[in-house]
Amino acid sequence: MNTPLTHTTVLLNEAVEALFNNPQANSDEIPAAGQTYVDATFGRGGHSRLILSRLAPQDHLIAFDKDPDALTEAATISDPRFSIRHQGFRHLGELPKGSVAGVLLDLGISSPQIDNPVRGFSFRFEGPLDMRMDTTRGISVAQWLADAEVDKIAEVIRDYGEERFAGPIAKAIVARREALGPFSTTTELAQLVADTVKTREKGQNPATRTFQALRIFINAELEELQQALEASLHVLQPGGRLAVISFHSLEDRIVKQFIAKHSKDEYDRRAPFAAPKIMQLKALDRVKPSAAEVAGNPRSRSAIMRVAQRTAA
Ligand SMILES: C[S@@+](CC[C@H](N)C(=O)[O-])C[C@H]1O[C@@H](n2cnc3c(N)ncnc32)[C@H](O)[C@@H]1O
Repeated sequence: MNTPLTHTTVLLNEAVEALFNNPQANSDEIPAAGQTYVDATFGRGGHSRLILSRLAPQDHLIAFDKDPDALTEAATISDPRFSIRHQGFRHLGELPKGSVAGVLLDLGISSPQIDNPVRGFSFRFEGPLDMRMDTTRGISVAQWLADAEVDKIAEVIRDYGEERFAGPIAKAIVARREALGPFSTTTELAQLVADTVKTREKGQNPATRTFQALRIFINAELEELQQALEASLHVLQPGGRLAVISFHSLEDRIVKQFIAKHSKDEYDRRAPFAAPKIMQLKALDRVKPSAAEVAGNPRSRSAIMRVAQRTAA
């Protein structure tokens, strides 16, 4: 494999601008200890490096990533204002209440993860069927498929891949497992899906939806996103910014509904005369990559960034 394992950061300036364009954080009331920002998805550090270049000497950047390779990259940053945690971003809520001026989530996987056959994320390369972001814990897709129930496999592929042929694919996986033993490689699974899905979506490999579904499931991506969004309400200070970059409709729907839910006062129907729970977020922006960015980095084409601001409630 000759592809260099690099990552081109998506919406780099737009995301960092969204975090910093915050009058409260830039006001005279800056705490002596400085402001704290969170890059919840360090990856190869594209956003983190630009955030660091914008920090005051007393500010801090706390990063998170599940991937040991991201941690190795982070170790090359020698800036006392920077630290990284090898944890899922649902642990964001462990930071002190109201202590953070901005949280960025750039969801999904990085190019080095997709392009490294050893990680098993891509149907384009022969590799072990792994797909874990954190290779130090949990089980691989191959291990899960070795004994998962057919109905559960179908549910995962349908719900997380929005795949019309989820049922036939699940049955084919189980039949093949019973006949030949468990899958071990990406290309075995991709071939089985291609043989099972008879219709083709334009410009898309037939295994795209199945691979997306298994990756989301094995990493509990949507559950962890929901937990991180809830946690952001706890850690953001009034005026603090939340910026989330999504790459597919399942993620974006969760982010959009979360911001909408918390951007209005909530009345309790069982207690109509009780004071409402005051809105906790103000929706600010929805940003897509420019045509020039998409031309230079086709992987950015499906990105949508939503930005919201924590209210004083
Ligand atoms: C799209 S990349 C981020 C790229 C980064 N913004 C950059 O410019 O280099 C997403 C990263 O988030 C990490 N990640 C995804 N879900 C995570 C989670 N729940 N907790 C922690 N890290 C996660 C992945 O391992 C990957 O490194």
